[in-house]
This record gives sequence, structure tokens and C-alpha cells, in this order.
Amino acid sequence: MQRKKKFIKLRSQRWFSSDTLRGSGHISRILQLGLTEEDIEKKPIIGIINTWSEINHCHSHLKERAKDVKKGILQAGGVPIEMPAISLAEVFQKPSTMMYRNFLAMETEELLRSYPIDGCVLMGGCDKTTPGLLMGAISMNIPTIFVPAGAMLRGHWRGETLGSGSDIWKYWDELRAGNISKRDWKEMIEGIARSPGTCMTMGTASTMTSIAEVMGFSLTNASSIPAPDSGHRRMATYSGRRIVDMVIEDLKPSDIITEKTIANAIKVLMALGGSTNGLIHVIALARRAGIELELEHFEKIGLETPYLANLRPAGKYLMEDFYYAGGLGALLQGMHRLLNLAEKTCTGKTLGDNIEGYKIFNHEVIKTPDNPIEPAGGLIVLKGNLAPDGAVLKANAADPKFHEHIGKAIVFDNYNEMAKKIDDPSLDVNPDSVLILRNSGPVGGPGMPEWGMLPIPKKLLRQGVRDMVRISDARMSGTSYGTCILHVAPESWVGGPLSLVRSGDLIEVNVPLRKLEVKVSKDELNSRKAAQKTKPVKFSRGYGKIFSEHVLQANKGCDFDFLEPAGPTPEPEIH
Ligand code: FES
Repeated sequence: MQRKKKFIKLRSQRWFSSDTLRGSGHISRILQLGLTEEDIEKKPIIGIINTWSEINHCHSHLKERAKDVKKGILQAGGVPIEMPAISLAEVFQKPSTMMYRNFLAMETEELLRSYPIDGCVLMGGCDKTTPGLLMGAISMNIPTIFVPAGAMLRGHWRGETLGSGSDIWKYWDELRAGNISKRDWKEMIEGIARSPGTCMTMGTASTMTSIAEVMGFSLTNASSIPAPDSGHRRMATYSGRRIVDMVIEDLKPSDIITEKTIANAIKVLMALGGSTNGLIHVIALARRAGIELELEHFEKIGLETPYLANLRPAGKYLMEDFYYAGGLGALLQGMHRLLNLAEKTCTGKTLGDNIEGYKIFNHEVIKTPDNPIEPAGGLIVLKGNLAPDGAVLKANAADPKFHEHIGKAIVFDNYNEMAKKIDDPSLDVNPDSVLILRNSGPVGGPGMPEWGMLPIPKKLLRQGVRDMVRISDARMSGTSYGTCILHVAPESWVGGPLSLVRSGDLIEVNVPLRKLEVKVSKDELNSRKAAQKTKPVKFSRGYGKIFSEHVLQANKGCDFDFLEPAGPTPEPEIH
């Protein structure tokens, strides 16, 4: 079916001129793919960047779901071309999927740039996939719509509802404390992941798909539909239809992302009690669009934005409950007075138009600003001589008794040392100790692995201790909880102050004052610094070398310095 709407000059048509030798070669090979000359004359070619892979448990349904996207594209008069991209399976990929987020961003951008693509559908959802895809598409700046993978169904075990990640951490501690058996543990891990889809707590996946939606990259409520729900298929079809019109309207990421869109993203991060990883990714997305964003913006907006979604790990419910309660559309409608509603979205309408008519059906799950769970968002930025460029704490997932705390440091130089010593009966630790893990940052990790929720020492677990102050330059899974101070910047591997702390030093955490300090004199810290040796680069070749040499610190979003905006990148020369 030919589009009857206004004729536009399509980017893809530059590839298909029968007047040149190259152009004729391109046409010949498109015909070889089974397409027709009519397909390439006036129809938009839509690239579907699909992160499906047999190694990715969270995206296992996306191979099928791409068929629905294609159906929608065909219905609207476009031509779908599916193009696989690297799949970042959170739990398998080592040393960290975060190390490969920028890889996916580069791959997305270059796939779109180097092929005859007029608009794109991005398919993914597992933690780093959403920001990786969007970062690439923002830099490429052709019409883009995001199809979130959707969360999996609730976990079940012996009549109990289980939440991804959160209950794994919880029951692992119970196993180590001797409160459950190995058989219990085995049954529990069998019941916690029951369907395709991403983690169904408000972890990094649901945080980032919700943020993509409020920024205007997904259809309304798309991020809340569970992966196995038939509504997810329909959403995929509608997204396929919509991208064709977006090409005709020439509606690009640069028309969608503004400072106000980014402010909306931060407000939703706070209202959801979202993952600490969200800070890093939102900074990276903003910077790709040329918008400078400091950690202080999160702090300021957090103070003005109530915490509204009663979802684990900080709350009680799961993503399936969130959807039945009305989903993100309902949450946004409930907090509409706090949002910038005039921002344009992928629907061609404003955010305010999109959420018109959405309602909250369960006020236990989704609260409103008049009756919030807490009056201010839970993500806190701490600064001080231990973190001059900031550190992050999810205060609503921390035991309030640690909001003002001084304790003696126990320092681990790396993850393996920590794993070896943490359960050693001779470890000089008590419930007031402050556990520190260093060399786990962007360069040192590498890729800031999610090691920030250090385990509670076994001997304290047996005494009933379930939370302690933990500090690192690592990240933490969005499904984790506890008093875990993360993203300390600059990181220890590049000589940040965390590298100067010694076991026995006193550490002060003060949430009301937003302070993180080591109680050691400036002179003493200077003399420790003078005795310090520079750490070696971890990789001598390959992607690891590029990563080590170019990754920015956490407070700058961990993008590569050379991927930040620096004037237009030329289109490929077409002959
Ligand atoms: Fe993929 Fe949690 S492991 S979203």
C-alpha cells in the first residue's frame, strides 16, 4: 500500500538511484532480498534494531514480538528491515553489561547511519539496553520509537510473591544465616523467573523503560505492560504503525528531548523510587542531546518530587500490580501538576495529551502527591572529602538509623578480596562498621559492576543484622536495597579519595547534611596521596582499551568522551 500522505524526500532514496552504477547495485541487492522497486521508491524503510538473543533471558520473546512490529509497519505503508544488535544480558555478561552499554550505543548509531534507514524501532529492556539504544538513536537523530521488552510475571514460591533480584538477595542472606535449606533455595530460584521479560521489580530495567516513555520515546503505558500480555503484542503493532507516520512527520529525537523532558525523566525516577543506575543513564542521555546535567539537578528535583510508586525493592508490589493499578500513564496523570506537560512525544502529541483519561485503579500501589509514600524522592547525592564529585544513596531503601552515622572503615581493595574475607570469623567487624569496596568504578571495575550491595558478614547475619553502611565506587542492581553509598566520584582506580582510606579510619555519613567524609586530616590525606602509585591500564588491546581510555566518570554519565556532541557527523557519501 502506498502512503497517501504528503510526499517527503526519504533518506533511504539516496541509496537507490538507477542513474548510477552504485545505485543500480543497491537496487539489485534489495530485489535479491525479496523487496520490490515499489518498496524503495516512496515507502519509508524502517530499521528494527532488535536486541533479541538466545543468551538474553529478558528478551527471549523479542524475536516473536518483532513480527508484530513488522505487521504494524506494513499496515502503515512502510518497509520493515530487522537488524540485530549486541544483546546485553544483565546476569551473564562479564565483567559488566555497563561496560558494553556504550558498545550498543555505538552499534545502534552506526547501523542507522551506514544503512538506508529512514526511521527506527528500538527493541529491548534489560537494564543497559534501553539507555544504550537511545543514546545511539539520539546521536543519529532520525525518527525513533522505543518498544520496551516489558516485565516478566510475578515470581511465586509456596504461596509467596517473589520479586526479581530483591528476593534473591534476601533469601541468599537467609541461606547464609542458616534459616532456609538448600532445597528451599533451589525451589525459590525455580519460582522467581516464570516468563519472558525483564525484572518485575522497579529495578533498572523498569526504571529506564519508564523514563524512555516519559521522555516521549514510547507509546503511552507501553513500559508497564507485562511481556506475556497480549496487550504487549498490540503495543508492538501500534509502535510499528506509528514510526511510519513519524518518518512522514520528520519527528526526530531532537524534537523530543529538551531540558524539560529531562526534568520530567528525573521527576519520574524519583516518583518511582527508581534505580540508582537511572542517574548515570539519564545524565548520559541528556549529554548526548547536548544538555549538561549535574548531580545537583537530581538532588533539587528530588526534594520537590514525592515518592509515589509502592514497588519493590523499596516498596511492596511488583510491575504486574503496577500495570493493573493503571500503569505509568496513571502515575503520570496523578502527578501531572509536577510535570512539563507541553513536551512533544513520539505520538505527535504532548505528554499532557497522552495521559489524558488515565486513572489510578489501586491507590495502594500508585499514590498521588496529596497522599505520597514519602514527600520527597529517595535518591540522595552525598558530597565531601570522600566524594568531591558526588556519591549516591537510595535513602528510602536504607535503614533510617544510618542516616546519621559514624563508624570505623573496613577496606577491601577489590571484589575478590572482599569475597574471601567477608565471612572470615576473624574479621574485626561490628554492626556499626563501614564496609568499603574500592577499585570497582568505571575504569577500575571495569564498567562499575553491580557490587555495591556488599554482603553482610555471616557472623553479623547470625546476630540478626540485615543492613550496614557500605561505600563503593561500584553501582548496585536496581533490585538491591540497604545503606549502600554508590558511584563515589572520582573513582579510586584513578586516584579518587576512596583510594586513600585505611581500615580503622572513621567515616561519617550524614543524610540531612548530604555529607560523606573520612575523618582524617588534610595533611595526612595529602601524605597518603604523595605515596600512592598510578594504577596500570587494565586492557592493552580491543574494546577494553577503548573503554579504559575514554570512559567518563559516573557523575558525567560514563559515556565515552568522543561520543559526546561535537558538531554533526557526516552522512555516508553515496555514489
Ligand atoms: Fe534483565 Fe533484570 S536481568 S532486567
